Amino acid sequence: MILRWCLLLSVFFGCWPAARAQISYNAERKVWVLQAGTVTYAMGVNERGELQAIYWGARIRPDSDFTTPHSRPEVASFDLSTTTTPQEYPGWGAELYTEPALKATYADGNRDVVLHFVDSHIDGDTLDIQLKDIASDLKVHLYYRVYEDLGIIQRWSRIENGTSEAITLESAQSAAWTLPQGEGYGWRYLTGHWGAEWQQHSEALQTGAHVIESRRGSTSHQANPWFEIDRPGQTTEQSGPVWFGALGWSGSWRITVEQTAMQQVRVTGGFNPFDFGYRLKPGEQLETPPFYAGFTDHGLGEASRILHRFEQRYILPGGDNAPLRPILYNSWEATEFNVSESGQLALAEKAAKLGVERFVIDDGWFGQRKNDYAGLGDWYVNKEKFPHGLKPVIDRVHALGMDFGIWVEPEMVNPDSDLYRKHPDWAMNFPGRPRTEARHQLLLNLAREDVKEYVFNWLDQLVSNNDITFLKWDYNRNWSEPGWDAVPVEDQKKIYVTYVRNLYDILDRLRAKHPKLQIESCSGGGGRVDLGILKRTDEVWPSDNTDALDRLTLQDGFTQAYTPGIMMAWVTDVPSGIDKRVVPLKFRFMVAMSGALALGGNLNKYSPEDMEEAARYVAYDKRIRQTVQRGALYRLIPPEGSEVSALEYVSTDGRQAVLFGYLHSQQFGGSFPTVYLRGLDPDALYKVQAIDPGQIQEAGTVSGAYLMHQGVHLNLHGDYDSTSVILEKQ
Ligand code: GLA
Repeated sequence: MILRWCLLLSVFFGCWPAARAQISYNAERKVWVLQAGTVTYAMGVNERGELQAIYWGARIRPDSDFTTPHSRPEVASFDLSTTTTPQEYPGWGAELYTEPALKATYADGNRDVVLHFVDSHIDGDTLDIQLKDIASDLKVHLYYRVYEDLGIIQRWSRIENGTSEAITLESAQSAAWTLPQGEGYGWRYLTGHWGAEWQQHSEALQTGAHVIESRRGSTSHQANPWFEIDRPGQTTEQSGPVWFGALGWSGSWRITVEQTAMQQVRVTGGFNPFDFGYRLKPGEQLETPPFYAGFTDHGLGEASRILHRFEQRYILPGGDNAPLRPILYNSWEATEFNVSESGQLALAEKAAKLGVERFVIDDGWFGQRKNDYAGLGDWYVNKEKFPHGLKPVIDRVHALGMDFGIWVEPEMVNPDSDLYRKHPDWAMNFPGRPRTEARHQLLLNLAREDVKEYVFNWLDQLVSNNDITFLKWDYNRNWSEPGWDAVPVEDQKKIYVTYVRNLYDILDRLRAKHPKLQIESCSGGGGRVDLGILKRTDEVWPSDNTDALDRLTLQDGFTQAYTPGIMMAWVTDVPSGIDKRVVPLKFRFMVAMSGALALGGNLNKYSPEDMEEAARYVAYDKRIRQTVQRGALYRLIPPEGSEVSALEYVSTDGRQAVLFGYLHSQQFGGSFPTVYLRGLDPDALYKVQAIDPGQIQEAGTVSGAYLMHQGVHLNLHGDYDSTSVILEKQ
């Protein structure tokens, strides 16, 4: 009945569908309102026919506040309305000086793109708004998918050439997000380099365009496709507004955060326009990568928790039902390329004794791979190292109760390899030009169908012929000379898109054919972590830097954007490879247990006492890992610039909380500050147990309110002391 009234009224006045609808359209006002959890997003068609942003932020009722938008006035003759009006997806045309979402060149040289609204369609949780150029059949579908439970909106576009001649796209962005107009914003982002990924930056937003990007063909260590915008002075870890987002693309990408002279802040992201040129023949289309974004009024901590939950539920394979990360052993840091049947078997025996669940052979098992000068591309077992093939090792690993995984680097080739000698043309290069080697290797051009099929087939055979349930998929260099001469000149720049799509295709097909297979995304550490690769991989290697103190900072940066449930963390030997720092075994374990615990040291060097201690931590980890990997993370004291740090995780059912405390270096005899827990049930009682009794004063049963307001006193001393505490709800 209500619906009928609504339909009837809508003919005359426009009417909003039922309040619970996620996406509503008021046809009379030409306004769409997306309700996603505690978030509202609104846009409409202005008097010129452009799709204009109206609102993005805390939830607002949809039925009264949003009226038809009107374009913004010009500011003198230098900033016309085209530039001052916040369009949802601006084409580069008319007088646009802000970042365009689409830039194109037509066959006749015309480069003017002005997009106007044509039509829209709501399909469940997804809205499709169609725009078209005012003078040609260049069409754009803008998609908005609403994740009601988490307040996340996924945007992407599909660009269609409806004309009778080719059009070349020079910039194809996924979305432009507009923030409420005004000053006083800050932005936060992550940069780094090999061994030092996940460095956090926060800056007040100034007028101008601020860019984070990768021109390297893959996601990169140097910047990660994630951003946060907050209000410095108002936003803290626990409160205040945060707008945040991340791109799902593992190729060259760009995010531009722009504040105009008129205090309009927008975030535009998608394919990196640098060296981009995607030719669409008549009837062809290009889909841009997903750009996910959300909002919270509850601070930076909550923004991370929303993203973590989103990744777990909607991005990672298996969603909420995905298995936990098993405890893994990998000998890379211990043996490097010196792998052999007997050596690996000896390590496997020891790993099993500690309670390890997955045994992984890293680099060095194939071809003529003695070092990084040769062998990549020749994916047959090296008979000198494994005279009986992999089978005896795999069988023994299984008999020891572990599953088996292996390292691969499928996209690469060493010039010193049989594959390269046979197919030099498969390497990415500009013919006749030098081929720049990095780590003595070249990239295979995965954009080529023959290369893609070759890579899929050998991987499929490797997994089919051996009982392998895990691949560590590595990628140890960035692109250079990105030529692709097998296709017409006008299509050669498609390599930036086709390569990544083909990589995704290989991963998707492998997973579909081998449903038990799990994959780790590694790129010389954390060079390929993004929401695109995470759709088809189960975990990532955040950094080749396994120094425990550095890891605390790296992991703090990593978990701003990505769930600790995929953050592989090895306990390795001391002095650490990178800083030569000597840190106690316990501290190394406590740091690694705040992600997905793994062991990467030379177990042959472990004393009986070390073995006993390590086994105790492995057993402890099995008690808490559900909470650490799937729970809500509270950053109680961040490690940067502090001699102490503390983290807390609360399980999704609220029954368990886990606290980690780290004293990096005691100074002036200072005691560890009181740690105030968060996210507990104030009225419930919690049984409090420290991994080492005596390191905590509150052992016993204490209320949630006490733990949050009176806090916990950790008894830590000296350099690199640490502890962990379990709180079980009674
Ligand atoms: C990369 C990885 C390391 C290891 C080596 C092997 O650097 O990040 O973990 O697998 O390659 O060559």
